[in-house]
Amino acid sequence: MSENQQLPESFATELESLYRRLQPKYPSVGQNSAVLPLLHHAQQLCGGWLPKAAMDHVARLLDMAPIRVYEVVTFHTMFHTKPMPKHCVGVCTSLPCWLRGADKLMAHCRARLGVRHEEGISADDNVYLMEQECLGACVDAPLVTVDGVYHGRLDEEAVDKLLRSLREDNHVGS
Ligand code: FES
Repeated sequence: MSENQQLPESFATELESLYRRLQPKYPSVGQNSAVLPLLHHAQQLCGGWLPKAAMDHVARLLDMAPIRVYEVVTFHTMFHTKPMPKHCVGVCTSLPCWLRGADKLMAHCRARLGVRHEEGISADDNVYLMEQECLGACVDAPLVTVDGVYHGRLDEEAVDKLLRSLREDNHVGS
C-alpha cells in the first residue's frame, strides 16, 4: 500500500457529501455498511485504486479501525491497492462459470493480451487481467467483467470483440 499518495483536492468534500446522502439508508447501528459504496467512490476519485490515505480517510469518516477497512479492501477483488492500467478484465472461474468454459476463456484472454502469468498486465500496459470468484450472475455463465461491467454467456469470439473495443477505447465502462 502506498503511504504518501496525495489525494485529489476535492476528495474529502466529495466523500463526505456521498456519506451524508448514504446515511439515511443505513440504520444508526449499521453505518459501517456504507464502507463499500464509500470505497467504490474513493477508488473512482483516485483514478482506479485506493492509496492508504484514501482508506484511512474512509475509516475516519465511519469511525472504524483502519485495519477493518484494509480487510474489506483486500478481501474484494474489485478494489485495488496499487495503480492499475486503464482497463480491468476479470474472468469468473468459480464452478458454474468453469463448467461453461471459463478456463478456456481465461487462457484465450491471456494469449490475446500477452499476459504471461495467471493474472497480470497486458503486453501493451493497457489492461489488467484477473481471475474472479463467483460474481453472483451464474445464470449468465461464463461471466467476464470489463471495467466493472458484466458481460455474460461469452465465447472466444465475443471476448475478442470486447478486447478489441478496449483497444479502440470505446468500451461502455471506460
Ligand atoms: S460462478 Fe461465475 S458468476 Fe457465479
